[in-house]
Amino acid sequence: MIQLKNVNLSYSKHEPVLKNIDLNIPEGKTTVIMGESGSGKTSLLKLIIGLLKPDTGQIMIASKDITRAKGRTLAKIRHSMAMVFQNGALFDSLKVWENLGLPLREQQRASIRRIRKEAEKLLERLGLEGTSEMMPSELSGGMRMRVAIARALISKPRILLYDEPTSGLDPVMSDNICEIILDLEQRENVTSVLVTHQLMTALRVGTHFVMLHDGEIIFQDSAERLLESDDPHVQEFVRSGLEVEKRGSALRYLGERLAVPGALPSGLLSMT
Ligand SMILES: Nc1ncnc2c1ncn2[C@@H]1O[C@H](COP(=O)(O)OP(=O)(O)OP(=O)(O)O)[C@@H](O)[C@H]1O
Ligand SMILES: [Mg+2]
Repeated sequence: MIQLKNVNLSYSKHEPVLKNIDLNIPEGKTTVIMGESGSGKTSLLKLIIGLLKPDTGQIMIASKDITRAKGRTLAKIRHSMAMVFQNGALFDSLKVWENLGLPLREQQRASIRRIRKEAEKLLERLGLEGTSEMMPSELSGGMRMRVAIARALISKPRILLYDEPTSGLDPVMSDNICEIILDLEQRENVTSVLVTHQLMTALRVGTHFVMLHDGEIIFQDSAERLLESDDPHVQEFVRSGLEVEKRGSALRYLGERLAVPGALPSGLLSMT
């Protein structure tokens, strides 16, 4: 579905940010891109959606090279994709439904009536009914991310790119976002590419796993291979991901116990 061949990218005259990237993203599945901060994950998504041009290499989207496409062909390829940006990137001065309407206005010059109808349908589907007239600042982090997903979905893309959709969210909300991503994959056969720092999010939604380190792909395979890999950077990612999960479960457990008066010894309570 998406193929990158020998892609290199640098911003101005700096060190290359992505080096010799060869990547195959299968159709109708969720490919997860992992890697530490600054390893080039967001840059990779921006290359795929055509917001950046590589210095060298090919980026094939359904057999068309987006790096060479122009005019209408380029617009058509772009409209088959949508990106959910890191932190949602909603326009704070626009109401929720107006945020959702932006892609429809840009791509199809849709009427206000149609935009509101489509927006409300999607908001309901993502558990956000009643938020259409609200401003983004009135929403929680999890709600903002769901609005950002709704905005990406409104133009019915075949390819969805998510940049850290669960970062900063609590475990329940992260789960909820993962379910939405899985539901889209299963019901609509959307091809997803998801960037995350979080091992659990990766394992929950991914079928194909890619790890970047210093702008290079150091791993590209299944979940089983990821967990067994002997690459030190992959091992470190898995180890610290499991630590975070263990700490999260412990805190959840403690929270449940604290809800029952007298359930914990007072010494432990004073530590919390
Ligand atoms: N517009 C830009 N101009 C110059 N350098 C940039 C620009 N955007 C990103 N970079 C640099 O490119 C490298 C990769 O950045 P990128 O945002 O792709 O990383 P990332 O893996 O998404 O990081 P994070 O996990 O923090 O979001 C970093 O060193 C960053 O400083
Ligand atoms: Mg990023």
